[in-house]
Amino acid sequence: MAGHTRRRVLRGTALAAAGSVVGGFGPGRLAPSARAEGSGGAASSPFLEGAFAPVSEELTEFDLPVSGRVPRELNGRYLRTGPNALGLEDPRAHHWMLGDGMVHGVRLRDGRAEWYRNRWVRSAQVARKLGEPYPGEAPPDDFACNTNVIPYKGRILALQESGPLPYELDGDLRTVRPYDFRSTLDGAFTAHTKYDAAADELHAVAYYPTWDHVRHLVIDGSGRVARTHRIPLAGAPMMHDFALTEKYVVLVDVPVTFDAAAAGAGAPVPYVWNERHPMRLGVMARSGGATRWFEIDPVFYSHTLNAYDEGDTVVVEYTSMPAPFSVAGRGSGGPSTTGAPTLDRWVVDLRAGHVRTARLDDLPQEFPRVNEALVSRRHRYGYAASAAEMWRAYETVDGVPPDERFSNCLVKHDMLRGTRQVHRFPRGAAASEPVFVPRLGARDEDDGYVLAYVHDPDRGASDLVILSAQDFTGRPLARVRLPGRVPLGFHGSWVADA
Ligand SMILES: [Fe+2]
Repeated sequence: MAGHTRRRVLRGTALAAAGSVVGGFGPGRLAPSARAEGSGGAASSPFLEGAFAPVSEELTEFDLPVSGRVPRELNGRYLRTGPNALGLEDPRAHHWMLGDGMVHGVRLRDGRAEWYRNRWVRSAQVARKLGEPYPGEAPPDDFACNTNVIPYKGRILALQESGPLPYELDGDLRTVRPYDFRSTLDGAFTAHTKYDAAADELHAVAYYPTWDHVRHLVIDGSGRVARTHRIPLAGAPMMHDFALTEKYVVLVDVPVTFDAAAAGAGAPVPYVWNERHPMRLGVMARSGGATRWFEIDPVFYSHTLNAYDEGDTVVVEYTSMPAPFSVAGRGSGGPSTTGAPTLDRWVVDLRAGHVRTARLDDLPQEFPRVNEALVSRRHRYGYAASAAEMWRAYETVDGVPPDERFSNCLVKHDMLRGTRQVHRFPRGAAASEPVFVPRLGARDEDDGYVLAYVHDPDRGASDLVILSAQDFTGRPLARVRLPGRVPLGFHGSWVADA
């Protein structure tokens, strides 16, 4: 029997009085009373409308209706997070990257969709805006992490780049506490960790606007930060993601750098495209030592699909957008681009000392993922998502007409054959990041399931869509009907039961 609870969160002057949003980027603290230029009203940003519009309720619904059949072996939680501004009175909350993190989760067990929950991460600011107590003292750069949610040694961690500590969540998505890896994380972290299952190591590359370096962190099997390497780096670039192979850490030094003047003027995310900052790849042994840098043509590198060693080369597959890329857009809302995100490959030839770049697929796509067991090892398959609304939002900000090729779909790549399959969704059905879950006892890399939230425009709500990865273009195995809309957001994970 279905049942649900709703907690409506009010908007209005009470929230305005509750205080401004502390951004996930340290410099937000440099000008706490500043206002973003040209931020306008709440309706000024395409990242607050349509598929992006934040939801205002926390829902709990049990025994969700399902079309098709949920595979009985999928026992765990599918979690995905994203920005969901809680109160829009502070213009800095309008920037897509700074919305308060909200995790959307579906609990699957024995072929049933047991529950759906969506919960804000309770940072001190969010707790205050919700009128709830915040246990203890808020950590520096406190923020409701909005970028990724991962399982790690029995815990669920919400992650953010730059300053904020991760937040630990419990199995019902309640915020537990800030998490610092048993008191061993000193300072900034990342949203894009890489877990090497064979080595039982969690790797991170952290940046911070006032640092003259970036940090490579290795969290070993004990769950502690066992090694920290500081890599000198000028210009304070935004290092959203990185790559990991069996031998190397690959840093991507992008020409998007911290801008003190923009911070002083109150820019929500004070990072700018910097023509004077060269684009480089840095290759460093996982155990540390000198970093070897390779200058390459500038692009906006957004996400790593995966990376691996091949002879004397390091192969990195990734999504990127053409230069220049504007984090601030027109001063409100979110980033803007001058072209579609594509899937590309860098081959770093360590012997010859140069980098070859290849376009793998010009179908606009983002949020690339692999079978997680192969992170840092050679993969054959990759998965990605397209959402027309996302592209439209980027181009609305930039004033460029939408690309007709960009439709709502999930994509499966076969790198061995150089082919792709596309699972299309109808107009208005925005698809978000796909996560691959292996079948129990799987022998083939793609023997398993692909899970993603997809908007259902007819219901005005979202579904959890479950595809067979080996029958990618076939009918979904299941569509779990959620009671609400999941706004287009960022990243997530399958959290299997222990
Ligand atoms: Fe990301």
